[in-house]
Order: sequence, then C-alpha cells, then structure tokens
Amino acid sequence: MESNSARYHVGDIVSGVTGWQEWVIADDSNKFSVIPKGMGLDLATVMNVVGLTGITAYFGLLDVGAFKESDIVVVSGAAGATGSVAGQIAKARGAKKVVGIAGGPEKCAEVVESYGFDECLDYREGHLARRLHESCPKGVDLYFDNVGGEILDAVLSNIAMKGRVVLCGAISQYNAMEKSRGIANTSMLIMRRGRMEGFLVLDYGSRFQEAQMDLAGMVLEGTLAHHEHLVQGIEHAPEALNLLFTGGNHGKTLVVVDESVQLS
Ligand SMILES: NC(=O)c1ccc[n+]([C@@H]2O[C@H](COP(=O)([O-])OP(=O)(O)OC[C@H]3O[C@@H](n4cnc5c(N)ncnc54)[C@H](OP(=O)(O)O)[C@@H]3O)[C@@H](O)[C@H]2O)c1
Repeated sequence: MESNSARYHVGDIVSGVTGWQEWVIADDSNKFSVIPKGMGLDLATVMNVVGLTGITAYFGLLDVGAFKESDIVVVSGAAGATGSVAGQIAKARGAKKVVGIAGGPEKCAEVVESYGFDECLDYREGHLARRLHESCPKGVDLYFDNVGGEILDAVLSNIAMKGRVVLCGAISQYNAMEKSRGIANTSMLIMRRGRMEGFLVLDYGSRFQEAQMDLAGMVLEGTLAHHEHLVQGIEHAPEALNLLFTGGNHGKTLVVVDESVQLS
C-alpha cells in the first residue's frame, strides 16, 4: 500500500510468515519474498504448489529423500497439499510406482484420478501393513511421511533394503499431547539398512527459487495437478485450520483474507 523500502514496491504481492492478520507493516527484517510478476500462474496456484507446501514436497522428496528413478515411493497425506505434490514429482521423475495413503474412498479416488498416483490405500480400512505388502511386495524404497503414528509404523514394516523415510510431518500426533504414540518398527531400519530423516522447509530458504521454477514449469506444461480449498474471511481461520485435522480439506487450504483480491 505504501513503501519506503527498496525491497518492496507499491503493488507488490509478497509471501511470508505472519500471524493471522489482515495488515502487516513489513520491514527488511520480515524477509518476505516478492512474488515475481508474469509467471503465468494465478495467485491461488502460486500460494499452493509454488508456495511453501509445494517447496516442502520438492526438497523433501528430492533432497532429503534422495529420490532415485525407479524407486517405489509411498506418500501419506496423499490428497493433501504437500503429499499430492510429492507424489506427482516422483511420478514425473520416473518412479517405478507411487502409492498414496489417504482417508476415505473419495480422497483415494482423487489421488489416483486427479493426481496420477498408481494406487491409493485408504488407511481407514485398517490392515495397512498387510495391504502395503500386497501393493509393494519388494518393499518401499522411499516413504514421504506427512502423518506419523500408526501409518509410519505400517510403512516401516515394509521398508525395502536401503530404504529412506522422510519425516515431513506427523499430523496424526499434533493433538495427541502426552499420549503421543511411540513407533514400534524402527528396528526394521537396522535389518534393512535404512535411514529416517526429518527436515523443515525453512532449511532450504536460500534455494526456494530453484524449486519454484521447476514447480511452476510443471504446472505450465500440465504435469502438476492442483486443487485449492478456499475459505472466505479471516473470521473463519480457526475452522479452516481444523479442516487439516478432520481431513475436511480437499487440496491446499487457503484462507482468503481480502476478498477483493483476484485469486484465479
Ligand atoms: N517439514 C516441513 O517443513 C513441513 C512444511 C509444510 C507442511 N508440513 C507437514 O506436512 C503435513 C501436511 O501438511 P499440509 O499443509 O500439506 O496439509 P494437508 O495434507 O493439505 O492436510 C492435512 C491432511 O492430513 C490428514 N490427516 C489429518 N489427521 C490425520 C490422521 N490422524 N491420520 C492420517 N492422516 C491425517 C488429512 O488427510 P486425510 O483426509 O487423507 O486423512 C488432512 O487432509 C503436515 O504434517 C504438516 O505439518 C511440514
């Protein structure tokens, strides 16, 4: 709206971490990134796949997970913002098989039909370890974990020799407080000489542009499908946040603070 800074110009659209708020006074310490003009993508897409969750999927899969062509990849939270992108990158880069894990038949259908995964297992049906074994009899080379808990255990029991587990998130445990669940199958990493590694996307701050260029390119060439779940009005932010825990969101959840802004 107004600027005395060399970093930000009037009319720039910027992205960064703030509280839930309609206005912010930015100074150089905020380190907002200015969204480049002329990317050919609408703002909702930029906030989704080219934004933090897309970048998380990108570096989590390729860098932390050391993705290799012909890997058998499993992604939990597969219908969500981060998971849907992780699986699509794996598919686009030549994974032998990409299996999603999501809650309910509708989301599983979306993961296969919209996001192009080879298969999707509904964790609510139970017996996940056995069903994963049927789906990946040679084991899982790379597991991109968004949820932790029982699902992580089921995948660990199916990990392949030299398998890698990327700990991106543990959403099944965030509200568990003192009852958070222990993981039983870490000894499989010994037997299969595997490794498990956590990361935060902020670790990759200096390389964001690299991911953004690749992700934007995939959207423009039609190899990265995406869906935004828009919730109108900052007064609905608590309900929007809760959708992530109930699974009521479809795709990237965005709260639209300024309803006059053109998103798509
Ligand atoms: N490491 C990082 O830097 C980083 C950055 C961004 C996000 N993350 C993490 O990535 C994960 C995904 O975040 P997102 O923003 O992309 O959200 P999202 O996947 O769009 O939404 C969260 C999804 O989690 C699933 N879920 C919720 N409770 C669950 C449970 N008890 N068991 C299994 N699945 C459950 C739900 O899907 P279903 O309907 O399929 O159950 C829900 O739709 C989160 O754990 C988040 O903390 C990490």
